[in-house]
Amino acid sequence: MRTTFIVGNWKMNKTASEAAGFVAELSRAIPNNPTVEIVIAPPFTALASVRTALGPASNIALGAQNMHWEQQGAFTGEISGAMLRDLGCTYVLVGHSERRTLFGEQDGDAHKKVRSALLNGLRPILCVGESLDQRTAGQTESLVTGQLAAALTDLTSNDLERVTIAYEPVWAIGTGHAATTEQAAKVHRTIRAHIAAGWNQATAARMRILYGGSVTPQNAESLLSESEIDGALVGGACLKTESFATIALAALNRRSG
Ligand code: PGA
Repeated sequence: MRTTFIVGNWKMNKTASEAAGFVAELSRAIPNNPTVEIVIAPPFTALASVRTALGPASNIALGAQNMHWEQQGAFTGEISGAMLRDLGCTYVLVGHSERRTLFGEQDGDAHKKVRSALLNGLRPILCVGESLDQRTAGQTESLVTGQLAAALTDLTSNDLERVTIAYEPVWAIGTGHAATTEQAAKVHRTIRAHIAAGWNQATAARMRILYGGSVTPQNAESLLSESEIDGALVGGACLKTESFATIALAALNRRSG
């Protein structure tokens, strides 16, 4: 059974001081329940204060939004996996569509980041997804499997145990137009079949595949009612305690319901 997984991507929101108060509130609002894994991914500058605010006993884990693939060196403005691990990060987002479209990240970069994350003891959450034009042109499946093939090339099934995939259609991110549960489930099945064909059935069955793109307290229950959808990568709706807690509760009810 795959543990339901909810990830909050804060993007470029909240200062370190704002983050500390927010997380204290969030910890009170989200019940401590091991059947759902919760991760928050603040900006780099807030990682330390969020870690402190969560405290050692929290079941909310820490993730970063990006990393560089090199360990150290002359890469002005970059942050390494070793630095993130040292700050208490467990997860790191790789290849988010905003990185790809706004900052020119390529599939090859995602591959190097996934490898470096694993090397540094971090669990990468690899984001894939098609644009509206690509969907309209009927290229969703080939685009998504192409992104997977490039980013996961030469990984072993052992490596894949530590990787999560987030299917995030670009047209759904920040637009208020989430994919329907059926649209998401269809792509999730394609992703799982790609993993089964490239590695093996057992690895595919264990792989957690999240949906992201305008997940809200209103649509979370429907999306999470689909067994192919193992959780959500939440942007806008994770910035308010109440909406993120409602999504976490929907995940919790899914398991116990
Ligand atoms: P959104 O963002 O929930 O605001 O659409 C999701 C994401 O970019 O991860």
